[in-house]
Amino acid sequence: MERSDDALLSIDPSLDLFAEIERLKVERKAVILAHYYQDPDLQDIADFLGDSLALAQAARKAEEAKVILFLGVHFMAETAKILCPDKTVVLPDPEAGCSLAEACPPEKLEAWREAHPEHVVVTYINSSAATKAHSDWICTSSNARRVIEAVPKDRPILFAPDKNLGAWLSKTCGREMDLWPGTCIVHETFSERKILALMSEHPDAELVAHPECEESVLRRAHFVGSTSKLLQRVVESDRRKFIVATESGILHEMRKRAPDKILFEAPTEDGLREDGTCGCQECPYMKLNTLEKAYLALRDLEPRIEIDEDLRRRALLPLERMLSLG
Ligand code: 13P
Ligand code: SF4
Repeated sequence: MERSDDALLSIDPSLDLFAEIERLKVERKAVILAHYYQDPDLQDIADFLGDSLALAQAARKAEEAKVILFLGVHFMAETAKILCPDKTVVLPDPEAGCSLAEACPPEKLEAWREAHPEHVVVTYINSSAATKAHSDWICTSSNARRVIEAVPKDRPILFAPDKNLGAWLSKTCGREMDLWPGTCIVHETFSERKILALMSEHPDAELVAHPECEESVLRRAHFVGSTSKLLQRVVESDRRKFIVATESGILHEMRKRAPDKILFEAPTEDGLREDGTCGCQECPYMKLNTLEKAYLALRDLEPRIEIDEDLRRRALLPLERMLSLG
């Protein structure tokens, strides 16, 4: 169900939304799961904050909860529903999609697979349930190398939908892979030229990058990893300065966990905003969720994620295979 503007306008402006969400959470027996790319306010109300893999695992572990309020994008909430069919899963804005998930419609993956019957299909978790259902394995950026290593060496691989993550995996795992031509609209905007300029201004800074970035950026990076691994690197490294090439929402948790570190958002080719910063590192889908919409989602238990049971079971198989790796 789409959230109407009327519902948002009807919220009493004097309401303390933080307190209301806390009250509703108890009343609904809900757990709040949030991704690092959400607005700081949303990250702060979460019971669990994590990357795509950790959020899927947290959904499954939330045995007591009847409701999952998912503060992330659609494929993440859908993954939670695939894993927890008996729970009500709500996503504050149903339009919170993902350019990668959009790039790989199920019928096209099915046709690709049929044209390559000898290949193993590994699909990034940034995909719809229907696309997952045509896959042998699901992976996230946290466990992608382990998943690729679990595929027998004599089997060729089709990897969808992120060609940048796929190319990085192919290089680091030493495996030939056919890649689907999808990209993340955020990670593809980072500029090698501007990053190099920033690195020469701060030669003591470490460049940490998400594997959804283009090869031109990844080859300059001192460290490549998922959001949780980038966070861990910033917290644990002896270095003081970091250039962070991923969605800028992660800087909130990095600043909380490593307040003494100096963090720069990796620059993009696009121009600066009036306040001197660049908003291009923000995922427009992730930022559709707001505190107001989160409140309404918990109050009304809408918009809900619903999946046809037969489809859910088919999407569950490759997801379970991934989760069985631990
Ligand atoms: P991870 O948090 O799994 O690194 O994924 C990033 C992402 O693309 C979320 O949209
Ligand atoms: Fe999709 Fe990129 Fe946004 Fe992640 S940051 S949800 S990959 S568009």
